[in-house]
Formats: sequence, structure tokens, C-alpha cells
Amino acid sequence: MSVNRPKFCFVVHPLSLEDVARYEPSAAGKGAPIVRKIMEWMPAWNAAHVTGVRTPDGRETEGWFVSACLLPEQMLEFPREDVYKRILRAIEIGVELGAEVAGLGAFTGVVGDGGVTIAERSPIPVTTGNSLTIAAGIQSLFRGADEMGIDAKEATAVVVGATGSIGGACVKLIAPKVKHVILVARNQTRLQKFHESIEGELPCTSSCTTDISEAVRQGQLILTATSSTQDVIQPEDLQTGAVVCELSLPHDVSRRVAEERPDVLVTEGGNMKLPGAPHFGRVREPGQEFDLNLPRGTALACMSETMVLALENRLENYTLGRGIELEKVIEIQEMAARCGFSLADMRAFDTAITPEKIAATRAAAQERRKGVMA
Ligand SMILES: NC(=O)c1ccc[n+]([C@@H]2O[C@H](COP(=O)([O-])OP(=O)(O)OC[C@H]3O[C@@H](n4cnc5c(N)ncnc54)[C@H](OP(=O)(O)O)[C@@H]3O)[C@@H](O)[C@H]2O)c1
Repeated sequence: MSVNRPKFCFVVHPLSLEDVARYEPSAAGKGAPIVRKIMEWMPAWNAAHVTGVRTPDGRETEGWFVSACLLPEQMLEFPREDVYKRILRAIEIGVELGAEVAGLGAFTGVVGDGGVTIAERSPIPVTTGNSLTIAAGIQSLFRGADEMGIDAKEATAVVVGATGSIGGACVKLIAPKVKHVILVARNQTRLQKFHESIEGELPCTSSCTTDISEAVRQGQLILTATSSTQDVIQPEDLQTGAVVCELSLPHDVSRRVAEERPDVLVTEGGNMKLPGAPHFGRVREPGQEFDLNLPRGTALACMSETMVLALENRLENYTLGRGIELEKVIEIQEMAARCGFSLADMRAFDTAITPEKIAATRAAAQERRKGVMA
């Protein structure tokens, strides 16, 4: 017997033109300027009905992925009020369908003040989902370190996007486990101010820089969570055998890393396995699955946070803004585990990272080290 819990909605948007073509096959083959223009005109729409998310003790929720349609760069470039209106319209659609809590996907949780204004204007509680994303990212980074045989206590970690909502909390959670942490962002004043404000409380040594390449060259463990719409992690900067945990959407790690650096372990850190028998049904094409470009039964950690809040009946503004409370990261991780959510298997560049792939990556790192020493 399952017990129905409140329903949720989650605001999604395409991360790239390829994403648009995946959601809307008729867009494939049309020129980028036309697709962008169509997105500009397109109202929010109900993209998917999510069913079958069921905890081991029989609690069940359902919800909807509602699309706010804009591409990441449009979210950043368009007048802020216009973007807020589109996000709020997406939430309203969720409310009309019965949602009682809303999550903000990718750039809908980045734009402006990280969900604070949206939450003030929303008829239902809102979360960015960043607390569970942070928890998943930290677990993924150190799982990668174990797989690559890196002794974290002796390692330098680099957090790219360190002044952000996700990055700022990740710095604090990584610091107790490593030897040195380097904070990276573009705005030097904000970066220095943030670094000075936390330096004293970090249990390891730390430094900060706006030079991504210089920082990445020094790290064995890299966590990246920027709001960049372009690649920022390039293959030539990565140390032999480094681990890169990627939380950014769209991705920060250049696809060239997959081709040129077989010795580096890149892992998408923000994916979770859902409990029960989850199904994401396309609303406009009944019977078809809404493709998140993830394995079946897997969702982003920010989506998972929204589902967990519904399952736990926590109808409140949970994660908002840029100063995330670490207690909430711990609490949502515990709630997610109780609901049967777990870290997804490792994956990067649209492919699963199998044990064979990990072994090959370690071997390539060993070979490369030999080459450097020879
Ligand atoms: N996987 C998931 O489940 C999930 C969930 C939520 C969010 N996300 C993604 O996580 C990312 C971060 O989200 P957030 O809410 O933490 O964003 P945020 O609060 O806006 O922080 C972004 C950070 O990135 C830095 N940054 C932006 N562009 C940069 C660049 N070109 N080079 C270096 N640093 C740059 C910013 O500082 P400066 O402006 O000073 O550079 C800031 O430190 C986004 O891509 C978002 O879509 C993923």
C-alpha cells in the first residue's frame, strides 16, 4: 500500500541547442538564430509527468517538469524581470496541476539572486535543489579520488565557481579532507572577500585566484560549479591522473578532455538514482519517455531534492540564495537516504564509467607518469 504525498513541480530548460532538438525533434536542422527566436516567443509548457517515485516504506509522489524554455545565455542576457516572469509562469502551471512545492532547475536557480525573488513571488515554496547537489558532488569527488588511488589528505583540491551557491559550500566541505584548497572565480573582489571571510575557519591551507588554468594545473581533485555557458576546464591544464567532479549545467569540462586525456577521471557529480519505479512521461507525446540524457531511473540531484521535500512533506523554501547552510546539506542528504535515493553510478560525456574504464584510466595515468619521469 502506498501513501500519497504532496505533488511537486520542477522548472526545466534546455541547456543547449542539442537539448532543444532532443525535446522538440522538429527543431533539428533549423538554424540557431531561428531556434533562439522561437525560444524567445515560446510560453512555458508542461513537458513531463513524473510518476512512480516511491520510498521503500511506501510513500509516493508525482510531479511535473515544466519548461521555462530559454537557453542558459538567454537567461543571463534577457531583462531579469522577463526571465522571472517566465519562471513564475512555469511554477503557476505546476500549481494548476496540483504541485505544492517547486524546484528550480539549472539556470532558473542561478539567475538573479539564486531563487530568493522567485520564492518571494511564488504561490508555493521553492528550492534550488542546491543542498542535495552539494552533498552528491562531495560524495562523487571523493569516490573518484578513491577510484584513482588519490590520497585526499595529501591532495590539493580546486573549486571552480567558489563564490557561488554550490561552490561556496563545497569549499567548506572539501577543506577538512584535503591538504590545500584553491578557490577560483572571475570577480576578484568578491573572491578575495569570500576567501578572507572563511579562511580562518578552514582546517586546511587555502588560496584563491581568478586564473583557472593556473589553479587547475596545481590540483589533483577538481570540483567545478560555475554558471559559465562555455567550457572552462581544458585538457592541457589537467594533472596526470586528476579527478574532475562536474556539477555545472551546462558542463564546464571541455569535450576535448574525453578525447585527449584518457588518464583523467571526469565524473558528473550531481546525478541520483530514484527509488521505486520512476517514469518521466512526455505530456505532448503520450507513451514516450522524456529524455534527460541520463540512464533510466536517474535524475539530477536538484530534481531529487524537490522530490524528497514532497515525500517528507517539507513544504518550505528549503535552499535559496548564495549562503547555503551546511546543516541543510547534511539534513537533505539524510532525508534523501531515508527516502531511498542514492548517488548514481559514475558517468561523464554521455557515457557510463564502468570498472573497466576506471582501470584503463588508472593505467593510462601510470603510463603517463612513467613517460614524464623517463
Ligand atoms: N547537477 C545538478 O543537479 C545541479 C543542480 C543545481 C545547479 N547546477 C549547476 O551548477 C552550476 C552552479 O550553480 P550555482 O547556483 O552555484 O551558481 P552561482 O551561485 O551563480 O555561482 C556560480 C559561480 O561560478 C563563477 N563563475 C561564473 N562564470 C565563471 C567562469 N567563466 N569561470 C570561472 N568561474 C565562473 C561565479 O563567480 P564569478 O561570476 O565571479 O566568476 C560563481 O562563483 C550551474 O551551472 C547550475 O546550472 C547543477
